[in-house]
Amino acid sequence: MTFLELCKKRYSCRKYSDKPLEKEKLDQILEAAQTAPSAHNQQPWKIYVLQSPEALAKVDAVSPCRYGAGTVLAFAYSSDEEWVNNREETKYPSGQIDVSIMATHAILQAAELDVDSTWVMDFSFDAFKKSLPLADNEYPVLLMPLGYAADDCQPAPVHVVRKPLDEFVTCM
Ligand SMILES: Cc1cc2nc3c(=O)[nH]c(=O)nc-3n(C[C@H](O)[C@H](O)[C@H](O)COP(=O)(O)O)c2cc1C
Repeated sequence: MTFLELCKKRYSCRKYSDKPLEKEKLDQILEAAQTAPSAHNQQPWKIYVLQSPEALAKVDAVSPCRYGAGTVLAFAYSSDEEWVNNREETKYPSGQIDVSIMATHAILQAAELDVDSTWVMDFSFDAFKKSLPLADNEYPVLLMPLGYAADDCQPAPVHVVRKPLDEFVTCM
C-alpha cells in the first residue's frame, strides 16, 4: 500500500465492535506517535491510554463520541514543555500543533494496522481535565477511540468530500 492509499483508506469510525485492540498494535501506534516531530524537539506530549471501565466512563461523561470503542487515547500537552514563538507581540505556542502531528502519526499507523479510529474534539475539555485528572499544566487536545469497526459501520458520506486542490492551493 502506498502512503497515499493509506491516507485514503483511513476514515472516521463511528461504531466499534467488541473486538479488543491487541497490545502489540497499541504499542506500535504509540511508537509511531513517538517518532513525530515537535517544535525545538521539546516533545510536550502526554498520552493517556484509557481502557478500564472507570476510565472509559470518564470519557462517556464528557463526550458522546466514544462510539463503543474499548480503547481511547487521550492526547494532551504540557504548557511547561511546549516551545513558544516569541518573535511577535502575539505569542504562538506549539503544544496543540505538536500534539496534532503526533496524533496524525498515530491515526495513520492505526490505519496501516487495520485498526479503526476517530479524531474527537467534541468533548468538555475542562470537565475531562478535572475528572482524569490532568495536572494543572496539562491541556487536552483530542480523544482518539481505537478498535475495530462494527460490521454495519460505514464511512460517513463526507469522507470522500474534499475541496478541489485549486480551491486551497495557490501557486505563486
Ligand atoms: C480537529 C478535528 C475534530 C474532530 N472532532 C470530531 C468529533 O468530535 N466527533 C466525530 O465524530 N468526528 C470528529 N472529527 C472527524 C471529522 O468529522 C472527519 O475527519 C471529517 O468529517 C472527514 O471525514 P473522514 O475522517 O471520515 O475522512 C474531527 C476531526 C478533526 C480533524
